[in-house]
Amino acid sequence: MCGIICYSGHRKASQVIVEGLKNLEYRGYDSAGIATHTEQSIEVEKGEGTIDEVIKTGLNGDRGIGHTRWATHGKVNRTNAHPHTSSDNSVSVVHNGIIENHEELRKELGRERFKSDTDTEVIPHLIQDELEETDDLQKVCRNVMERLEGSFAAVALLDTGEKIAFKKGSPLVIGDAGDEIFLASDVTPFLKYTDKAVFLEEEDYVIVDEEYTIYNSGEKVEREVEHIDWDAEEASKQGHSHYMHKEIIEQTETVKRAAFQDRKDLLKAVEMVEKAEKVYITGCGTSSFAAELGALYLREAGIQLEVEQSHELEYRKDQINKEDLIIGMSQSGETADLLSLLKKTDASVLGIVNVVGSTLDRDSELSLYVNAGPEIGVASTKAFTGQLAVLKLLAAAADNNIEEVRKSILETSDKIPKVLEDNDSNIDLISSYLSNKNDAYFIGRYKGRIVSKEASLKLKEISYIHSEAFAGGEFKHGTLALVEQGTPVIGFMTEDTSSETLSNMAEAKTRGADIIGIGNVEDTGFDYFVDIPEDNNPEILQTAVAQLLAYRTALKRGESINPDKPRNLAKSVTVK
Ligand code: F6R
Repeated sequence: MCGIICYSGHRKASQVIVEGLKNLEYRGYDSAGIATHTEQSIEVEKGEGTIDEVIKTGLNGDRGIGHTRWATHGKVNRTNAHPHTSSDNSVSVVHNGIIENHEELRKELGRERFKSDTDTEVIPHLIQDELEETDDLQKVCRNVMERLEGSFAAVALLDTGEKIAFKKGSPLVIGDAGDEIFLASDVTPFLKYTDKAVFLEEEDYVIVDEEYTIYNSGEKVEREVEHIDWDAEEASKQGHSHYMHKEIIEQTETVKRAAFQDRKDLLKAVEMVEKAEKVYITGCGTSSFAAELGALYLREAGIQLEVEQSHELEYRKDQINKEDLIIGMSQSGETADLLSLLKKTDASVLGIVNVVGSTLDRDSELSLYVNAGPEIGVASTKAFTGQLAVLKLLAAAADNNIEEVRKSILETSDKIPKVLEDNDSNIDLISSYLSNKNDAYFIGRYKGRIVSKEASLKLKEISYIHSEAFAGGEFKHGTLALVEQGTPVIGFMTEDTSSETLSNMAEAKTRGADIIGIGNVEDTGFDYFVDIPEDNNPEILQTAVAQLLAYRTALKRGESINPDKPRNLAKSVTVK
């Protein structure tokens, strides 16, 4: 959470930074700010609100830093917005992460110097004090690095025009465009200028002037320059009204890309799974639902494994051994709950990850890439269906039928546009209906139960309608008491489970529910129905419908809702 960017080159820094921040806005949008360097001084523009609302003046200067905030410490207001500046205005800092010893440092640095309630503000004051002792920037950085505890990616702009950056626990990437240098939370802000990226490693710090130099523990270090094959155009809306819509529609392509996993990698992954004493699969939020479905696929292929959300699995860290394997699911590869679990165990790690070069990718013995391209909408869509494709192939590799399963996933991906088009008016009708409701219940059985959890999360997080999901069989064990006249109950049906799910829906209808069926069954007695053709991978098609339904419902709830930026949330949850 929180996006940071830093630029030096021959262009107007404020323009490049504002444009780059818009690509990072998914990481937080409580407030925004920018600082640029002009003739030995630093100018700052910051405030509460979105980038366009806050940054207007087009500050001059060819070096600068920018920030988009997801608040952790301190209220959302102008004072707490980044950049934060030292008491003598010589240092301005943007930061992503948490400084855990900020209270102790605040006391030591002198509370009277502080303007904000943030943990970040200790960084500029610390740097100012270090600069008063020496002008050797390497020493300054090393001392500052040693004083800060917690997880942070931070960049400081100095009134000399130089910049220093620190990385521990939170992501920071250098974009190397020759005579232009970028530093950012991910590659999307600089893809337009360069595909050359340097992913900083733990406790690296960097001095940037005309060039950049990376150090670690007082030594100069070389880090590999990697080529990112994401297309800058992929990180734009391409004519869609929202990223989320674009990302739903492009799943016909992204699921295909996920299906083109390298056979050798899949076999290596199976070897890791088979060698392990115990296998765990884990993730958070939508990625945890991918993990749950993955556990079902792998068990069907004869692999026994446990599935649990990462923040919960961490409580069992002492039961996880060196001989075990953790399959970590994450779009961003930066989710703190997952990374923290991995840090606290010494099990091997197989990452299933979208963002190449992310921390999960780097911490994994082997990564299988989801290949969905940049996912900008805060609600995960194409990464989820891509994760399902990768997991299906992993199970297929364990079962010796990669090609057959790959073919079936390619067929499914071809059907996505038709399913959405054929059901367009139905989805529209259902979204109008749902947009006037306060509650909704999603049910399904077996794989349909997990699809219903993902569908429910999508609806609640972007439309703010309260919703719950559970196994159809559970309904009559309690929640049915909440059903009244006109309560929406949405059921996902697949051939193997449809008759029981239909019975559960009928039980709800008898008590006044409006029932909405999504599946490959006869349309009998539903109030609304979305027909999904027969397919080997119905979860993917049902999920695409659920995503579009949530998106349309959110739009119909009123203009104050932006489905790309749901309130209180941010993508890439880098705090625990
Ligand atoms: C929901 C959503 C989140 C993420 C979760 C994990 O739509 O996007 O629940 O799935 O924060 O993020 P990653 O997959 O980046 O680890």
